Amino acid sequence: MKKNLSLLFSVFLIGNVFADEGMLIPSLIKAFESDMKAKGMQLSAEDIYSVNSSSLKDAIFQFGGGCTAEVVSKKGLLLTNHHCGYSQIQSHSSLENNYIENGFWAQDLNQELTNPGLTAMRIVRIDDVTEAVLLGISADTQKEELKANIEQIIKDATAGSHYTAQVKAFNYGNSYYLMLKETFLDVRFVGTPPNSIGKFGGDTDNWVWPRHTGDFSVFRIYAGKDNKPATYSSENIPYTPLHYLPISMKDRKNGDFTMVYGFPGSTEQHVSSNYLSQIIQTERPARIRMRDLSLSVIDKAMKNSELIRIQYASKQARISNAWKKWIGQIDGLKRLDAVALKQEAENLYLKKALSNDSWSKKYGQVVSKMNALSAAAFDYEFKYAMGIEYFYVGAEYFKLIRSTQDLIMNYAKYLEEGKVEEIKDKLLKSSKTFFKNYNAQIDQEIFELLSKEYFKQINVSVERKNSASIIYNKSAFTNASRYEKLISQLNKRSFKKIKKDPGYAHYSEHYNLWVSNVIPNYYAFKDNMDVLLKTFVAGKLEMFPNKKHWPDANSTLRITFGQLEGSSPADGKVYTEHTTLDGIIAKYNSGNPDFNLKPRMLELHKAKDYGSYAQDGELWVCFSGSNHTTGGNSGSPVLDANGYLMGLNFDRSWESTMSDYMFDPNRCRNIVVDIKYVLWVIDKYANASHLIDEMELKK
Ligand code: ARG
Ligand code: GLU
Repeated sequence: MKKNLSLLFSVFLIGNVFADEGMLIPSLIKAFESDMKAKGMQLSAEDIYSVNSSSLKDAIFQFGGGCTAEVVSKKGLLLTNHHCGYSQIQSHSSLENNYIENGFWAQDLNQELTNPGLTAMRIVRIDDVTEAVLLGISADTQKEELKANIEQIIKDATAGSHYTAQVKAFNYGNSYYLMLKETFLDVRFVGTPPNSIGKFGGDTDNWVWPRHTGDFSVFRIYAGKDNKPATYSSENIPYTPLHYLPISMKDRKNGDFTMVYGFPGSTEQHVSSNYLSQIIQTERPARIRMRDLSLSVIDKAMKNSELIRIQYASKQARISNAWKKWIGQIDGLKRLDAVALKQEAENLYLKKALSNDSWSKKYGQVVSKMNALSAAAFDYEFKYAMGIEYFYVGAEYFKLIRSTQDLIMNYAKYLEEGKVEEIKDKLLKSSKTFFKNYNAQIDQEIFELLSKEYFKQINVSVERKNSASIIYNKSAFTNASRYEKLISQLNKRSFKKIKKDPGYAHYSEHYNLWVSNVIPNYYAFKDNMDVLLKTFVAGKLEMFPNKKHWPDANSTLRITFGQLEGSSPADGKVYTEHTTLDGIIAKYNSGNPDFNLKPRMLELHKAKDYGSYAQDGELWVCFSGSNHTTGGNSGSPVLDANGYLMGLNFDRSWESTMSDYMFDPNRCRNIVVDIKYVLWVIDKYANASHLIDEMELKK
């Protein structure tokens, strides 16, 4: 109980004892400057974020809308994680040129490979626009007015520039910030180590410390001759950044200041105890079960075929990643007795609210309302999640139907506009990529297992008109040549036929049920909860002004700081703060195929040729830190006291996967691949030292 109490205080009551929790808004970093300096930082707030001159922020990019990446040279050289570039690496790979298996290194600019659709986005400016957004708004129901205000703000902010803008709610609408963005459209693939480095440890080690993954890949931003974003053209030139990160070659030690600068996706620190308990008891276990089933099919097939290993590499990684995180998350939350901690925190909140008339009026009801709402309506969230698993993560032919749906539904309109042929061409082209990575037998097995589970979970007994074998033998959406035929011959009369297509019929019947019965109720639940959360958080801000407050992650640029350190995540367990190349070899010797190595790695290890990348005769591979991170922080730079690049964030330890709901400073650690190991791989393993020549190394 004593341990629980101290945690309770750290998550709820006292501020600044544990400075490590929290994802801070860069434009407000000044308020934390002295805390950060006390931890060893040498930079000023202006060095980190500035709108008047170049600052660290200008080297940070959102990569492909999900991950984070950073520029490390004058010529737009961009580093991110291997798993962030994985779908690009995969799409350039074939049995002849298997970059997944063997790695890839462009020898010069001409060999860098284009990636249609891939973007890199920089934040130009962050402005507090709360007042302007709420102008004339007095109730949470005035959604249209709010939207109009936001549209106007965006219009004003972007007028006369090539920037785009977004206004985001923070703290559930207690404040609003404008993000002005510059999005680059030509991002080329420069290099990657093989999976035996970039994905070393595979699923065995994913979300686990001690870790030895060289989780990095290399890209480059290109721009038009004016250095502004431009779509791909052979005339484009490497982008000249406002700032690029120098490389930290200093020796590392426990307690070194670390700062992570990136785009964390989402956290849910404020959910109510009832909600959290349903997540732990029902939602997560059911989602895990759905993925157990698809992974059982995919993993088996990948073991037996190199082609399937290429086709399903990226999909398997995506499915298994959240699957494993969720297992760790509910395990951690249970160990922590997180629901009881939430209840205690809720009681404290209530007590505080009742201590004063005006607080009592504003905040006295909100906790019980939040719990009552989730008790009544969580089922919609459950069914929503099941639909995501079934329709979006499960059988892939659903995806092909979705991409074809628009043409089917709006055929007459497109015909009138003369666009039909163009759309058909596009569909045929993208279906080539789809079927390149598709195996009907795998899809059918997944379909069978997940259908059974889905209908059981959502409590529907279906009389199935079409069996899986009819769908996979007859449907136009489960076979490349049937699909091509359907699309190329599509005309006014096809619609009737499509409706009878067994695959289409199954999908549209159940998808439509989900869309009409679940989605609106789920959104209503979310909206109602957000209104309560807005009040709840306002109460925290007002009644506990001395606590260190931070808004939940929402895919906007954030900063988190802490230090290089290990952890003691459970009774009797101690994790040191770094791993080395020797540990890679030891894992290899264990014989688990997730730890396979190429002979070259063994030779290099034997030669101990670590050059200037070593410290005390060792080559550090990964280190851990007490930085509060989440999904989306992958690829984020981990910066030292001077703002130099120490490594790339890529994971959290098993014991900290619960930090999206509850951060425990004793056990939550982020995992970083050391930049010195990255450089060693580029230099010694890949002989691509021309890339290192572009960088600025700082001792
Ligand atoms: N767990 C890390 C993240 O959430 C890395 C995932 C990639 N690795 C893997 N084995 N799937 O993205
Ligand atoms: N690997 C995660 C990502 O892709 C980061 C790890 C985490 O969730 O903290 O963003």
